[in-house]
Amino acid sequence: MTEWQKTTWRNKPRVQMPDYMDADALHTVEAQLSKYPPLVFAGEARKLKKSLGSASRGEAFLLQGGDCAESFEHFSANGIRDTFKVMLQMAMVLTFGAKVPVVKVGRMAGQFAKPRSAPTETVNGVELPSYRGDIINDLPFTSEARTPDARKMLQGYTQAAATLNLLRAFSTGGYADIHEVHSWTLGFTEGEKAAKYRDMANRISDTLDFMKAAGLESESNHNLRTVDFYTSHESLLLEYEEALCRLDSTSGKWLAGSGHMIWIGDRTRQPDGAHVEFARGVLNPVGLKCGPTTTAEDLKVLIKKLNPENEAGKLTLIARFGAGKVGENLPRLIKAVRDEGAIVTWVCDPMHGNTIKSSTGYKTRPFELVLREVREFFAVHNAEGTIPGGVHFEMTGDDVTECTGGVRAVTDEDLSDRYHTACDPRLNASQSLELAFLVAEELTSRRAETAVATG
Ligand code: PEP
Ligand code: CO
Repeated sequence: MTEWQKTTWRNKPRVQMPDYMDADALHTVEAQLSKYPPLVFAGEARKLKKSLGSASRGEAFLLQGGDCAESFEHFSANGIRDTFKVMLQMAMVLTFGAKVPVVKVGRMAGQFAKPRSAPTETVNGVELPSYRGDIINDLPFTSEARTPDARKMLQGYTQAAATLNLLRAFSTGGYADIHEVHSWTLGFTEGEKAAKYRDMANRISDTLDFMKAAGLESESNHNLRTVDFYTSHESLLLEYEEALCRLDSTSGKWLAGSGHMIWIGDRTRQPDGAHVEFARGVLNPVGLKCGPTTTAEDLKVLIKKLNPENEAGKLTLIARFGAGKVGENLPRLIKAVRDEGAIVTWVCDPMHGNTIKSSTGYKTRPFELVLREVREFFAVHNAEGTIPGGVHFEMTGDDVTECTGGVRAVTDEDLSDRYHTACDPRLNASQSLELAFLVAEELTSRRAETAVATG
């Protein structure tokens, strides 16, 4: 393999990236971004890697979630707060059920660029470039809007910086303090799940009261009062990624300064392609989407490239096969990982293999298929004796109607009510929490089985 540099991806075949017509504007933006501070720091990426390593061994569990595509237009403090809040609630449910620390990673502060099924879109005989996310072009079907504009990268950087600033404030400024567990409520106001959530929250409060009374809890107990919250996105727009790449003086390695974790999408994982080339050289934890078309041969090559030192937590394999397809695909990829003796963190994305067109014409995801894929993922790992290390969801704290089903059943007819996504349909707060309860049950029963097996 040739030596890696942050620019070597430029010598490899690239797919899913825009052609910028205005080369001067592109170079100006790249030069500008190269001088800006990185959004994240190497020590944080290393800490996340360590936590993901724990998840690979079943000693922690990854909760990764957020928008399919962050939007410039719908950017708001309340939106960030609500997604953060639902993730805290989900993490509480998971920690309570599974009795392991939950590693919280948002699809946030950089999730702007999207792969598309076709490079162009034709409407009434007019053909224009496809919309590729707000960091590249705009959604309206006009030639002007659809022309990729490099300057949008600066707006992406600014929005990511502002998002991270707020997330850091929420994480450490008192909002995420476990004593606030009752105030995070969002999504359930009534019903069985609401009662279950309140019951958990009460039991946590009782425990905290007990600890305080027994002198076990001090005001300075950092772990109860703050959380580590990380950011992630698909590393798709490589000009942006390269411009934010920074040398870490402590280790002499390169950091993708655009987010704590980056991942490679299902459409850009060609072993000899530009996206794999970029990701193989950075010190950050890297995710790799694995779908029905991922071959065992490719996976073996990718594992060697992306995690040459077989470091725990470095490589997360994000399985996204679709309900009904996990049984035929996951075992063959688990075998490939075993053949290589590779350490990986297995995560389930039950969203991207379950997108359908509803009877009312909307792109949607039936909640029961999402649940089914999660169950299948756990069942295969139980059968194989491997570790389910986490979940990856497209979700929002907003009360949207984008995925059908759930306890407050969203129907095909309801989809038009509050369908706001800039790309794929997301779980709303109530559906997200319901899913967290299901995952917690799977993890609890797994713990019970492991205890029987080893006890
Ligand atoms: C995504 O995560 O939004 C995405 C496009 O996923 P995938 O690459 O798995 O299709
Ligand atoms: Co998506």
